[in-house]
Amino acid sequence: MLGASGYAGRTLCALALGHTGLELAWAAAGERRGARATLGGRSVTFVGIEEAPLGDAAVVFSALPHGASAPWVARARAAGARVVDLSADLRPGHPIDAAADATAADTYGLTELARDDLRRAAIVANPGCYATAVLLGMLPALARGLVAPGATVVVAAASGVTGAGDTPRRDLLFGEVTENYRAYAVGNEHRHLAEMRAVCARFDADVDLLFTPHLLPVARGILATITLPLAEPVRDPAAVWRAWYAGEPFVEVVAEQPELRHVAHRNAAHIAVAAAAGMRRPTLIVTVAIDNLLKGAAGQALQNANVLLGLDECAGLPS
Ligand SMILES: NC(=O)c1ccc[n+]([C@@H]2O[C@H](COP(=O)([O-])OP(=O)(O)OC[C@H]3O[C@@H](n4cnc5c(N)ncnc54)[C@H](OP(=O)(O)O)[C@@H]3O)[C@@H](O)[C@H]2O)c1
Repeated sequence: MLGASGYAGRTLCALALGHTGLELAWAAAGERRGARATLGGRSVTFVGIEEAPLGDAAVVFSALPHGASAPWVARARAAGARVVDLSADLRPGHPIDAAADATAADTYGLTELARDDLRRAAIVANPGCYATAVLLGMLPALARGLVAPGATVVVAAASGVTGAGDTPRRDLLFGEVTENYRAYAVGNEHRHLAEMRAVCARFDADVDLLFTPHLLPVARGILATITLPLAEPVRDPAAVWRAWYAGEPFVEVVAEQPELRHVAHRNAAHIAVAAAAGMRRPTLIVTVAIDNLLKGAAGQALQNANVLLGLDECAGLPS
């Protein structure tokens, strides 16, 4: 595990330690090398990243920051490991500089979309947390061609503060965040838009995405509200979503509105679909809740590794 001392890395180490089919070979940190942490009820000592025996692991997870991750993915792959990268470096729409580094992901690991590719994958780009919520909410509409051509899909989403990682920042101090609520990255420029657009393009969806993230005064969780203009009215839209996700172990189309407390500490996505009243063009409102550190990061990474290794997809994951 690279980047094991951060939020996503610690979460993934804890999951791996509780997984009956996996062993945590090593946990590597940067500044926190040599430090001990209790993860999943076990004591783990972080090794320095340069000392990590990359070739000793069947799967290397990287939870390094953007920019730092791609070179380590290349090193892990060169050492013979299959890699799941949680950073944005290798996601679609984030092309790495091919001259500087020849590594590329062969699979974008939105598990529900990528299962067949995952079985053969060498390098998986794990989706961003917001992208996971938004794409899970949109997938049935994209796959069935329900969205009005030329439409703008408006997404307002809010995340808890662990989404920003654990590097200290003044704007993320308790006093700045608590009892407060604000938008950020306003202007449709958030990093996750690239991968969301890339998935829309895979379905030939002729849409604009207008995405505005917000900071919630909670530790973990994302709630995304997606406004989908439709080409034609859909009589029972929730039934369409339920049919699309039938049999999915971690995606549930729920009757009540999704709430963060129902998905926190679970590798779950809860989705609700409602028709919007009073609109000239038929419109759906899709709401999605996930835990950013589980379904949005470490949980989905382990789900992908389970598929990649031919293990039970649900092994070691809190559903
Ligand atoms: N947080 C989320 O909700 C979330 C969701 C989806 C994806 N992600 C992605 O997952 C990755 C990790 O996110 P995070 O929130 O866990 O970040 P984080 O809490 O800031 O952790 C970053 C990790 O990377 C290590 N690191 C940083 N620079 C390093 C360097 N130069 N050499 C070696 N190790 C270094 C840190 O180690 P030291 O602190 O010991 O230096 C730490 O273990 C990011 O790419 C992020 O975008 C995060």
